[in-house]
Amino acid sequence: MTRPGDRLRVGVLVSGRGSNLQALLDASSRPGYPAEIVVVISDRERAAALDRARTAGVEALVANPKDFADREAFDLALVSELNARRVGLVCTAGFMRILSAAFTSAFAGRAMNIHPSLLPAFPGLHAQRQALEHGVKVTGATVHFLADGAVDTGPIILQASVPVESGDTGETLAARILVEEHRLYPEAVRLFAEGRLTVAGRRVIVR
Ligand code: GRF
Repeated sequence: MTRPGDRLRVGVLVSGRGSNLQALLDASSRPGYPAEIVVVISDRERAAALDRARTAGVEALVANPKDFADREAFDLALVSELNARRVGLVCTAGFMRILSAAFTSAFAGRAMNIHPSLLPAFPGLHAQRQALEHGVKVTGATVHFLADGAVDTGPIILQASVPVESGDTGETLAARILVEEHRLYPEAVRLFAEGRLTVAGRRVIVR
């Protein structure tokens, strides 16, 4: 049962470095922030993100896909760990696996992802490199709800633009996009926690 004043319980799925996780952990330690990270789950044992969680005093779990019969069994194990901790919102943050309907239906409207482009441009891997290859002048970051089907689809919650500079490499562009990611993700979680997001078809209305 939730009581007025309770903070939203958030679970974060990670695979690697965890800089977006860190942004969420930092936000949740600020007074008045309406969400708290209660568990971090990685599909990779050596993910630096796990250390970030432990340092912040947050439970860190590893779920190795090799220990499960198939994708669905793995996804259902994630659902069960998250439900056991009464997670109200799941954030994927550099989580390198595609989640099946077994997962997305369990957390429909309660799971978000962050992606380093202005979706629907450049979904999938290496979004920054794709932006450079296409010669776009502006790219950015997107937070969206998870949807079934293709990766990096689903109703868009927040976006921020980042200009491409002459001389940008994938690394320099990625670094500038990350600054925006670290601002956007905690903001999207805050809006969700405050009940200010309504999904209407493909659109998310922010009140
Ligand atoms: C970020 O650029 C995120 O948008 C993408 O993967 C990267 C993860 O970085 N999905 P980190 O692990 O949060 O540092």
